[in-house]
Amino acid sequence: MAIVWASNCNESWKSLRGLCRTELFSSRAIESQAAVREKKVSEMVEFLAAREGKVVDIGEIVLTTIFNSLCNLFFSEDLLGLEDSKGKASGLKNHIWKLMEHATAPNIADFYPALGPLDPQGLKKRTVKVVTQIFSVWEIYIRERREIHESKLHGDTLKWDFLDVFLSNGFHDQKINWLFLELLTAGTETTTTTVEWAMAELLKNGEAMRKLYEEWNRDIGENPIIEANASRLTFLNASIKETFRLHTTLASLQSTAKSSLYRPASGQ
Ligand code: HEM
Repeated sequence: MAIVWASNCNESWKSLRGLCRTELFSSRAIESQAAVREKKVSEMVEFLAAREGKVVDIGEIVLTTIFNSLCNLFFSEDLLGLEDSKGKASGLKNHIWKLMEHATAPNIADFYPALGPLDPQGLKKRTVKVVTQIFSVWEIYIRERREIHESKLHGDTLKWDFLDVFLSNGFHDQKINWLFLELLTAGTETTTTTVEWAMAELLKNGEAMRKLYEEWNRDIGENPIIEANASRLTFLNASIKETFRLHTTLASLQSTAKSSLYRPASGQ
């Protein structure tokens, strides 16, 4: 376990959190990552524009975009394909949906902790299986990059993405696996659900949709998507805030926040 599901806030948790704060969540880090997000969002818009008038699964498309944006920050790789409903890396998309289902399913053992070791619904067993499948998808990237670090022959060739930062700070594979899994699930499900709710609310509210179109056409129009311009879109920002007010994204996770779904040996 890394940050979100850590069972206690010890020194290792604090240093991991500190590293994430500076390398991933600081204003400097967020600004420096803008180009990755702009690229991924532009790819998504292009993909959607090519399907104008057709039915699309917006949840799948947003999930792929967010997931790939994060994967690019972590490993400098896309692990999912917009065209590929299963996920090009050996069914990864299915594994992620399954993990989210297991993580948010009501677990009777949360209400009767004595039942925990019995795993009455088989949730723990299924979660362990799917987590192992997910780790096996990206372990090759970690292995290859670790070899480069250990060979000390990398010169200036390192990408200095999140993986390089963690390897150069001496993190072992399991720690990196758990951290990436936690960040990918924390970032993907929340953002995808928020966008799905925002779209659903806008489709029901023609007046709000019209105002959004007007604002977009006035302030952005046909210009390329630049993240720094998003702050100009006051109605869009208000719409997202209203979505948070109407649909608290994390409500579904609270019931499992302290669950004993999967507690591996300490140090993981
Ligand atoms: C709409 C999007 C998101 C929502 C609504 C959301 C919401 C939240 C909430 C309510 C918490 C708990 C805060 C607390 O305990 O005080 C949290 C924690 C966290 N979120 Fe998000 N989040 C979102 C996106 C993301 C993204 C994109 C990432 C990472 C890539 C992320 C990573 C985390 C992490 C690592 C924590 C644990 C922080 C800690 O305990 O130190 N979240 N999030």
